[in-house]
Amino acid sequence: MILVTGGAGFIGSNFVLDWLAAEGEPVLNLDKLTYAGNLASLAALRGDARHVFVQGDIGDAPLVARLLAEHRPRAIVNFAAESHVDRSIHGAGEFIQTNVVGTFKLLEAATHYWQALAAPEKGAFRFLHVSTDEVYGSLAPGAPAFTEDHAYAPNSPYSASKAASDHLVRAWHHTHGLPVLTTNCSNNYGPYHFPEKLIPLMIVNALSAKPLPVYGDGRQVRDWLYVEDHCRAIRRVLEAGRPGETYNVGGWNEKPNIEIVHTVCALLDELSPRAGGGSYAAQITHVADRPGHDRRYAIDARKIERELGWRPAETFESGIRKTVRWYLDHPDWVAEVQSGAYRDWVAAQYGSALA
Ligand code: NAD
Ligand code: TYD
Repeated sequence: MILVTGGAGFIGSNFVLDWLAAEGEPVLNLDKLTYAGNLASLAALRGDARHVFVQGDIGDAPLVARLLAEHRPRAIVNFAAESHVDRSIHGAGEFIQTNVVGTFKLLEAATHYWQALAAPEKGAFRFLHVSTDEVYGSLAPGAPAFTEDHAYAPNSPYSASKAASDHLVRAWHHTHGLPVLTTNCSNNYGPYHFPEKLIPLMIVNALSAKPLPVYGDGRQVRDWLYVEDHCRAIRRVLEAGRPGETYNVGGWNEKPNIEIVHTVCALLDELSPRAGGGSYAAQITHVADRPGHDRRYAIDARKIERELGWRPAETFESGIRKTVRWYLDHPDWVAEVQSGAYRDWVAAQYGSALA
């Protein structure tokens, strides 16, 4: 089996579902169930013996050691993290605790476990660390996209904590020989995305007749990748990636935020027209910019294509349509994640207008 951490979050839950459908190999899913973890995203696996869920912290060394000894996974895929830039600006403590200290504890436990494995299992073992393009910092317009050799220059508490975790993973390979793989991926979108992030926030706010808050001028550029493509890339890196290497994963799809928001509005206009008529775009509201907002991210994903034959399968047009459709078809999932804690966050970040 494999151990997946953070498998109740957005990408982790998509990965567990995709993994079981594609590979069928059992998954031990260790997730703390923070505000971002949601077992409703894994409801399709209820009663499926191939999925074993354990609520717990990657930083809980005795728990992780016990799970590794009992379940003897052949690989660890580490998704567990605090992941929202805006939350890291309000308070970075949990980001340091989980992304830095938690990754360190997980690496230590994995190394002890791996060192004691017999030869064939030891050679086959992998520790795959899921990271982000945000560790590279911000790109000027027209500058070449991030390659794996780009210098790290994180600008937010979130990206700094992820950069630190990447460095720890690298060091555990160089110092202890742990067979690690690191993926640095661009912005994901798709089903089960918590509505604090741009695309799901715009969908749920539009449908509840609330403002669509665009930070600053909305000209910041992100590269967007459909989450299933990211899951497929991780499977491929786990299968054939070279230990110690990092792979940049991206959608070849750079878009300014304001264009993303207009696309979401146009799809909603078509699929679920506004009760009072007119376009959802009328709800767009420019609000104060994010402090230290990175202007542009772009991923050069040629290495993973050249070495492992991976390319995104979804176009942005097909992926965003599927995503909007999914949110329209799953109002119960949306209602469930909009808990008291979610409302408190929206009030703290955007003021009472959106709460
Ligand atoms: P998410 O916030 O939706 O999910 C994170 C999950 O980790 C949650 O289920 C949470 O309960 C769990 N978790 C948090 N702290 C934990 C701890 N200490 N121990 C165990 N579980 C814990 O995040 P996501 O968007 O699914 O991102 C997953 C990973 O992918 C993160 O490492 C993130 O940095 C990386 N990433 C995300 C994106 C993106 O666009 N979302 C892009 C590139 C990389
Ligand atoms: P986000 O989904 O938080 O991802 P990240 O900051 O990791 O790239 O934000 C994506 C972009 O959308 C980013 O440039 C910030 C912007 N944004 C808004 O304009 N309004 C919002 O309400 C949110 C959440 C994000």
